[in-house]
Amino acid sequence: MTISAQTRLAAVIGWPVRHSMSPELHNAAFAELGFDAVYVALPVPEGAAAQAVQAMRAFDWLGFSVTMPHKAMIIDSCDDLTDTARALGAVNCVFRDGDQIIGDNTDGSGFVAGVEHDFSVSIDAMNVVVVGAGGAARAAARALTQAGAGDVAIINRSADRAAKAIAAAGGAARIGHRSDLGSADLVVNATPLGMGDTAYSSSVPFDPSVLPDHAIVADLIYHPLETPLLAEARVRGLRAQNGVSMLAFQAAAQFERWTGRDAPVETMIGAARAVIG
Ligand SMILES: NC(=O)c1ccc[n+]([C@@H]2O[C@H](COP(=O)([O-])OP(=O)(O)OC[C@H]3O[C@@H](n4cnc5c(N)ncnc54)[C@H](OP(=O)(O)O)[C@@H]3O)[C@@H](O)[C@H]2O)c1
Repeated sequence: MTISAQTRLAAVIGWPVRHSMSPELHNAAFAELGFDAVYVALPVPEGAAAQAVQAMRAFDWLGFSVTMPHKAMIIDSCDDLTDTARALGAVNCVFRDGDQIIGDNTDGSGFVAGVEHDFSVSIDAMNVVVVGAGGAARAAARALTQAGAGDVAIINRSADRAAKAIAAAGGAARIGHRSDLGSADLVVNATPLGMGDTAYSSSVPFDPSVLPDHAIVADLIYHPLETPLLAEARVRGLRAQNGVSMLAFQAAAQFERWTGRDAPVETMIGAARAVIG
């Protein structure tokens, strides 16, 4: 695509940010739709997120994604927040609504959309266990309760963080116990256990042999594409999937905020797989 005086700018801000895959996903989507915009990664040091919001206002950016360490700190710089961003205390997407700069969080809706896409299921009335209680777990738990899950049990190493996740998720969320795994329809790994290039890359967050035969295992990790948990779940005969769809669908929701167009999600999934693969 030719960059001209009409070309709009979108970006991800973070520190560090050069590892981000978001430029590949969004630029593939812009190209697919012939939308005249370009998406770049901008290294923005801790404490400088407010300047990114000012830049969006001054330079008419389309919008931007927000990653660590700015997800909480940028809240005070936005004119307003969506209910989801307010409840989670974290922003991963900034978009314009008239003169207003709005902070949103698309991680949870991206997770639910990814599960429904990958497994052709509805979350409605499901018994879900979320392992972990960090930012991704909170977002997923809140979206699961909003999508109508019957029970969302959160199991975490530290109890205080689990309690905070339950407060953010609301609805059917509660403190979970390992025994909840035996009646789970869907189990989510929202810890980094199994992540590549870490000290715990060969660890699993729970034993999939205790799950019912119909259970689905969703690992939020996408590097590697096949974690030890996913491999064990497949040996056990369970349906299992990595975090690529969540990555693509949370980006797709941002794309739709900025462009008002339906995002070409399969293109974005393909772009993510190509980068990781
Ligand atoms: N697919 C996607 O688009 C996507 C998006 C975001 C995140 N993720 C993935 O989701 C995972 C969590 O990310 P996050 O941002 O939520 O991280 P986070 O805020 O740091 O939370 C990490 C969670 O994992 C738990 N944990 C960490 N190390 C552990 C260990 N050794 N044993 C047991 N529990 C442990 C923590 O427990 P404590 O509370 O006790 O510390 C915490 O609940 C990561 O693997 C990340 O890559 C994927």
